Amino acid sequence: MKVLVTGGLGFIGSHTVVELQNKGLEVIIIDDLSNSSEKVLDGIFAITGKKPIFEKLDLKEKSEVEDFFKKHTDISGVIHFAASKAVGESVENPLLYYENNIGTLVYILKELSKKDKASFIFSSSCTVYGQADKMPITEDAPVKTAESPYGNTKQIGEEIISDTCKVTPSLNAIALRYFNPMGAHPSTEIGELPIGVPQNLVPYITQTGIGMREQLSVFGGDYPTEDGTCIRDYIHVVDLAKAHVIALQRLLEGKNDDNYEVFNLGTGTGSSVLEAIKSFEKVSEKKLNYKIVDRRAGDITAAYASTDKANNILGWKAASTLDEAMKSAWDWEVKIRK
Ligand code: WQD
Repeated sequence: MKVLVTGGLGFIGSHTVVELQNKGLEVIIIDDLSNSSEKVLDGIFAITGKKPIFEKLDLKEKSEVEDFFKKHTDISGVIHFAASKAVGESVENPLLYYENNIGTLVYILKELSKKDKASFIFSSSCTVYGQADKMPITEDAPVKTAESPYGNTKQIGEEIISDTCKVTPSLNAIALRYFNPMGAHPSTEIGELPIGVPQNLVPYITQTGIGMREQLSVFGGDYPTEDGTCIRDYIHVVDLAKAHVIALQRLLEGKNDDNYEVFNLGTGTGSSVLEAIKSFEKVSEKKLNYKIVDRRAGDITAAYASTDKANNILGWKAASTLDEAMKSAWDWEVKIRK
């Protein structure tokens, strides 16, 4: 029984491959290497002693996807990470996002729908909630008009899966709505490798801390929050990875209540940008150079997860604190810049 991980050389994908292997599952990775590198395979091997099968493949090519599934008939589950994920880029180049994030999903679901039984885990995002009215955010909070094409691809992706599951009883799917993934594997063998200037807060903080960036710009100090900066739910990538394995096993073992389920993956705790900076300064014992500037277009004030459903139904709870996650991010930054 093999598990296919698309985008398995990426940030969350690679950490999930490690946890799948730790549970004795055989993994095959597809990645187009557009936002990752084959060197990540060495990092996975260094941690688990097992090198996953890897095939470079462009999921946008329907024939390549068909040929892959013809060749690998023993795939029982798919964890689908492969997607473009930069909010700003999606605004400038929406068609790239709709082709890469929606087209590829359709091709994979078509292949899985041919099987007698298939399990599918979808990488979704808290972005689907937009600015939710109530905190913490529960899974039944209304999905709001997306702030970006990236967020829209996650909403549309969930609808495509839900519609397909309704008419395909053999297909069992779970959408996992991540809050803000951060950090790196404690071994520092794998971690986040942003290409170019990081869009996300934590890699920008650690790159500023290591001296790669001059100063962190804090986007907005006048939000209606305690310290005026935005609040997010920062979750350690290893906690996130473990949740994927639990969700997949739930489907493989037929323990799901419905053939399409949705779970938030967060810590349940909100942290402001200034609190994230303070956490960095504590774990790194370095002063961070930052400046509060204007708000970033499209940012919401606050988002943190209700974790009751994941805790009670998946039996999963994030284990790491913000400081532990930030320490892992900093250790990784120090390691790769050596
Ligand atoms: C967090 C906070 C910024 C950078 C997005 C996607 C989400 C997921 C994670 C893919 C915000 C502030 C940031 C900086 C700053 N994407 N910030 N200075 O926007 O919450 O979520 O990335 O998986 O789907 O929507 O994450 O890290 O960009 O921002 O002040 O240089 O940090 O304003 O308040 P975001 P982020």
